[in-house]
Amino acid sequence: MIPLKEATGNKHKQAETMPFNTRMFRGLLSKKEYLLYLTQLLQIFQTIESKGLPHSSLKRVERVQEDIDELKSEGSVDGIILNSTKAYVDYLSALSYEQVLPHIYLNYLAIVFGGQIIRKSVPSSGKMYDFDHMQEAIQSIRSVQHDEWADEVNKGFDFNISLFEELETVCNNLKLASTS
Ligand code: HEM
Repeated sequence: MIPLKEATGNKHKQAETMPFNTRMFRGLLSKKEYLLYLTQLLQIFQTIESKGLPHSSLKRVERVQEDIDELKSEGSVDGIILNSTKAYVDYLSALSYEQVLPHIYLNYLAIVFGGQIIRKSVPSSGKMYDFDHMQEAIQSIRSVQHDEWADEVNKGFDFNISLFEELETVCNNLKLASTS
């Protein structure tokens, strides 16, 4: 069986190189754009965390909310919830804890690994990327992950890719990039 990381590598590359992600990586997102992104992640993390997590240090809802509050206190207004987020949240809502585990692997290791690179480039203090007991939190995912998850993880990547596409379109349409 192909190892999970390898079987999902093409989708990871695709997600990593989406224009919105590339701009985030280069430190080019405005506060409003980043707030819009955090607003989507809050919905996704709330839905996943209502099912449970393999380690309490993985919990992201409070930290994302703190980052959102920081940006709002600086004058940014609340972001809207995008259709692609609603589609992913609807999908996740119907899953059991066991079925949501591949999406925990996907969305939480994204923050653990990609996040440690991206955190220096985002226009907030980036509390979302802080983990207490990070090694134990990673290990809790590693100890449950299976190579059989590849199709489900790739499905989760597709939801994330749609989200990055919509984020870029909405940012361009609302011209969120031009203001702080
Ligand atoms: C600019 C965007 C991104 C960068 C720079 C990035 C970078 C990385 C890096 C450096 C790793 C560790 C690779 C290794 O161990 O050799 C990683 C792993 C991972 N990333 Fe990303 N990533 C990005 C976006 C994403 C996105 C959008 C997702 C999914 C929503 C994602 C999901 C994952 C997962 C699940 C792993 C763990 C793979 C494994 O070791 O099993 N990444 N990423």
